[in-house]
Amino acid sequence: MSDLTVVAIDGPAGSGKSTIAKLLAAELDLGYLDTGAMYRAATFAALSSDVDLDDHDAVADLTVSLVLEMPPSGDVFVNGHDATGDIRGPEVTAAVSTVAAHADVRTELVRRQRAWATERGGGVLEGRDIGSVVFPDALVKIYLTASPEVRAARRAGEVAEADRDTVAADLARRDALDSQRRIDPLRQADDAIEIDTSHLSIGEVVALIVELVERARA
Ligand code: DC
Repeated sequence: MSDLTVVAIDGPAGSGKSTIAKLLAAELDLGYLDTGAMYRAATFAALSSDVDLDDHDAVADLTVSLVLEMPPSGDVFVNGHDATGDIRGPEVTAAVSTVAAHADVRTELVRRQRAWATERGGGVLEGRDIGSVVFPDALVKIYLTASPEVRAARRAGEVAEADRDTVAADLARRDALDSQRRIDPLRQADDAIEIDTSHLSIGEVVALIVELVERARA
């Protein structure tokens, strides 16, 4: 096992990853990294620069030179520009699965994710491939799920003017793209603990994971 205290939180969109990972990090006094925001930031940079999103080399070059700042406030600065709102907007959300499927984009962002955790002695990282690829020897690996109805309702609550059917269709499309892509698809690591959050409160899920971490540390 590595001597880093890494807690990997993976799962599909709307499974509760961000809310739970943030609270968990505060509770455990660890840093928190939203790796989805990194793929969104690369997508924002690609859309801003007019490169063809299917051009693997161009998008990869742009990712390698990306100046990305993600302070604990949750703001995201891309090449010096405050992109906090834009990275969650419909344009980036529609394009992010295309960018996240490029092998060299993933290599670069995974490198940055490992460096982030190594500098801090660990952290809570949330994404799709943290337990399977980024930190296969993480101290604790959690795979969060929730029913499609619950996930769509959660996302509809987050997105302005979005109706539930549109959100449900977008989630289904991204789930399919994220889990069927050739490189590092969304998948549950063999030794990850699955938690279905559909009928659990946020507090219950956080308490459950804190207990798992304390047991793993003992
Ligand atoms: O968690 P999110 O919805 O903000 O993630 C945005 C996209 O980034 C998601 O559709 C899949 C991709 N992603 C990924 O491929 N690997 C990660 N570790 C995190 C996100």
